[in-house]
Amino acid sequence: MLCFDLLCIGVIVLISINSTSFANAEWVTCSGIVPMRYRNDKISITDFGGVGDGVTLNTKAFREAIYRIEHLRRRGGTLLYIPPGEYLTGPFNLTSRMTLYFAKGAVIKATTDTEHWPLIAPLPSYGRGRERPGGRYMSFIHGDGLHDVIITGENGTIDGQGGVWWNMWRQRTLQFTRPNLIELMNSRNIIISNVIFKNSPFWNIHPVYSSNVVIRYVTILAPADSPNTDGIDPDSSSHVCIEDSYISTGDDLVAVKSGWDEYGISYGRPSHGITIRRVTGSSPFAGIAVGSETSGGVEDVLAEHITLYNMGVGIHLKTNIGRGGVIRNITVSNVYMENARKGIKISGDVGDHPDEYYNPNALPVLKDVVIKNVWGERVQQPGLIHGLRNAPFTGICLSNIHLGGARGPRDLPWQCSDVSGAAVQVSPWPCSQLTSRQQNGACSSSF
Ligand SMILES: *[C@@H]1O[C@H](CO)[C@@H](O)[C@H](O)[C@H]1NC(C)=O
Ligand SMILES: *[C@@H]1O[C@H](CO)[C@@H](O)[C@H](O)[C@H]1NC(C)=O
Ligand SMILES: *[C@@H]1O[C@H](CO)[C@@H](O)[C@H](O)[C@H]1NC(C)=O
Repeated sequence: MLCFDLLCIGVIVLISINSTSFANAEWVTCSGIVPMRYRNDKISITDFGGVGDGVTLNTKAFREAIYRIEHLRRRGGTLLYIPPGEYLTGPFNLTSRMTLYFAKGAVIKATTDTEHWPLIAPLPSYGRGRERPGGRYMSFIHGDGLHDVIITGENGTIDGQGGVWWNMWRQRTLQFTRPNLIELMNSRNIIISNVIFKNSPFWNIHPVYSSNVVIRYVTILAPADSPNTDGIDPDSSSHVCIEDSYISTGDDLVAVKSGWDEYGISYGRPSHGITIRRVTGSSPFAGIAVGSETSGGVEDVLAEHITLYNMGVGIHLKTNIGRGGVIRNITVSNVYMENARKGIKISGDVGDHPDEYYNPNALPVLKDVVIKNVWGERVQQPGLIHGLRNAPFTGICLSNIHLGGARGPRDLPWQCSDVSGAAVQVSPWPCSQLTSRQQNGACSSSF
């Protein structure tokens, strides 16, 4: 009988969960993709000699605290607490089953001593560092082969102090590729939330060869002129969900990638199942981007409710000859942008190559892209789509898109070549290559 009762309770709980999610169908979130864990075992960086005075180097404290988490293996994992204060440290590795928790007013700052920054191997899907041949500097916060990692708290700050690195890039004195602020490789079940990322040396958050990654309620800040400070770059990763975040950097806000040219093609690891929603920000480059490194393929991407100010390009899908890879089933909807050079750009001639050994016959495929419900003001050029002559872009659906000009001498009309698809309720009118019949082709299945 007791069992029977429990069963009944089980059923009731299930029904109520279902009806709740039904009632909230309009407000979809990343919740549930990764379990949020409560950790009973808690330690503080101060237990390991950490000093938050902004000058003491805390590398040893971080490495020892994380060594303790890794080797004591407490049930349910361990929370590492960072109290208010400024903790200067060199780069360090995370471990599985840990929470890195930032109190309100807690800041960890990367050392500017770049000479002793460790090097790690290049990513196989890149074959070399992204900007320099050979190895690359390890990320400020790094993880490889991890699971069940949470980085959260009360909006504390991870400060990359990237200025020294940006200057080396500007002065062309970089020996190896600059470090990311956070990189998690070959990892799963990751949550990054309620943290501020500041002045990354290079890309900010780089999940690569990873799955089930939730990034929400983050703020990512870097100056508009800081080189290559991409916000979030899901790379050869699946089930990545990014939401409710503000990103203002010197490069793409979110860029979905999967390796480049012969290295990305032979590694063959796509990015798929990527959701981006309720993201706001500004950048001299792209808001929502796919590419240009897409050699492993990029599929099943949904970006919605995106608000962009003072942009280079609002939505940018980019690839190149030699990339290979299939970009397919990309949906971008409900975008508002204000003051942009270009609203929408889809192009097959963007980005450089790792070396001269790329295969010029490895043409990318780009198809089944829906861009709908886009409003913009002061957009100098509404759109530009340039497919490749021997690999035209197909199944492009543009629907309900209204991009008003800047009323200045730099205003340009739409430009298209080597593309097919449909345009429905698009003003100004895009191009003759796109048909206006909704029931015919690209736009037929999306309403
Ligand atoms: C961090 O982990 C990598 C392996 O992913 C290892 O090569 C490196 O030595 C570790 N670095 C530190 C500083 O612990
Ligand atoms: C942290 O910032 C997020 C917005 O990114 C906000 O929703 C949240 O309330 C803030 N939390 C605290 C504890 O200040
Ligand atoms: C396209 O991607 C969405 C996720 O954005 C997914 O739900 C859908 O099943 C995909 N469609 C196809 C035909 O693969």
